Amino acid sequence: MKKEKASTSGGNQRSTPVKLLVLHGPNLNLLGTREPNFYGRATLSDINLALARRAAVVGAELESFQSNHEGALIERVHAAREQGVRFIILNPAAYTHTSVALRDAMAATAIPFIEVHLSNVHAREDFRHRSFFSDLAIGVISGLGSEGYLLALEYLLGQIASD
Ligand code: DQA
Repeated sequence: MKKEKASTSGGNQRSTPVKLLVLHGPNLNLLGTREPNFYGRATLSDINLALARRAAVVGAELESFQSNHEGALIERVHAAREQGVRFIILNPAAYTHTSVALRDAMAATAIPFIEVHLSNVHAREDFRHRSFFSDLAIGVISGLGSEGYLLALEYLLGQIASD
């Protein structure tokens, strides 16, 4: 009988678990209380926990990192390359609209990533319509709240399973 691929770490004879990184930009540590009309009521820990649990089901290793500092996010992206991170889920928050430096880090390391926004940035102020990341991303999810992160993860797990 043909065996179903049950896990991303075992199905394809992988010896080490696949590494995934979730990067959250500035002010996302305030989720839960920050403008809930835009960002919902889920806290950053709620989101990170849900992602880690989903990844663990298929044996993937998922780490989340939040910073209010551009340099810290850039350095985390550099470290991700050293660690062999396979995919990144990135919510650059306000840096979406301002950071050439973080964009360059994503381009330099060339780790494939999905850009996620909790709010629908296109339904908001004009300055939020421009992203320094979207053209580099595999895809963009915007406006689906915290569910957007889980949908991004689901897509990436599908990619990994078919590697
Ligand atoms: C955000 C949208 C950005 O415009 C904003 O600066 C954020 C959060 C979002 O998740 O909807 O901080 O990235």
